[in-house]
Amino acid sequence: MSKPPSSDIGLFEAMYTARSLRHFKPDPVPETLITQVIDAAIRASSGGNTQHWSFVVVRDAKVKQQLAALYRKASDYASAIYSSRPRPEHLTDEQYRQFLANSGHLWDHLAEAPVILIACLAKRDPPERATLPERVQARYDAHLANTLRISGSSIYPAIQNIILACRALGLGTVITTNHILYEDEVKAVLGIPENVATFALMPIGWPTRKYGPLTRKPVADVTFADRWGTRWPG
Ligand SMILES: Cc1cc2nc3c(=O)[nH]c(=O)nc-3n(C[C@H](O)[C@H](O)[C@H](O)COP(=O)(O)O)c2cc1C
Repeated sequence: MSKPPSSDIGLFEAMYTARSLRHFKPDPVPETLITQVIDAAIRASSGGNTQHWSFVVVRDAKVKQQLAALYRKASDYASAIYSSRPRPEHLTDEQYRQFLANSGHLWDHLAEAPVILIACLAKRDPPERATLPERVQARYDAHLANTLRISGSSIYPAIQNIILACRALGLGTVITTNHILYEDEVKAVLGIPENVATFALMPIGWPTRKYGPLTRKPVADVTFADRWGTRWPG
């Protein structure tokens, strides 16, 4: 697919309304739409243009149930973390209650999504130290220490494209990462090879809840001009 599909909504409308949707109709999602969503995903950039991503599209009811059981197990753990954290200051009690209720819904209903998409990235072994010039070797430990932090950078742009493509097509989705707590078991269910890591598990379907608007902290609260601490005037 080299020509982009058309969408009736503008890009900014998509960005401002593509909220996390976790409630779905049971109706199947046509295969062509899933192909279209993934075709949009792979337009994203990746470090070194490696494109070492892959996507597992799960529609088999039994496999979805296995994933849902692992997601439930991981969410029990995550809920204990949420309970011991205060409500984020920028959310009202009602917004936080809704967030917990919506997240909690997925713990018990993940298998009901017509599609569960798992976004993966192959791990790459770093080059042997001895093959590198001395000036590179001198900083190599610091470089290797950074790799954990940047490991998701080559898949999350593609994942955001999935969210926006779903929005444009009238589908709903949400990025979830709780499953990573039990990633080995998820990989075993899906037969994902050892050198491939999973970065997001996304239910996709026709939403029963409405899109947007997305409320966020204002730009002025999260942006600095020229250096940290100097307020951005906008
Ligand atoms: C890195 C990341 C991990 C997330 N993990 C989960 C998750 O495991 N389960 C879930 O229900 N939502 C998850 N979310 C979705 C967020 O909770 C959601 O985007 C946030 O509450 C804002 O909701 P909104 O986009 O509808 O405003 C995750 C989002 C991100 C970016």
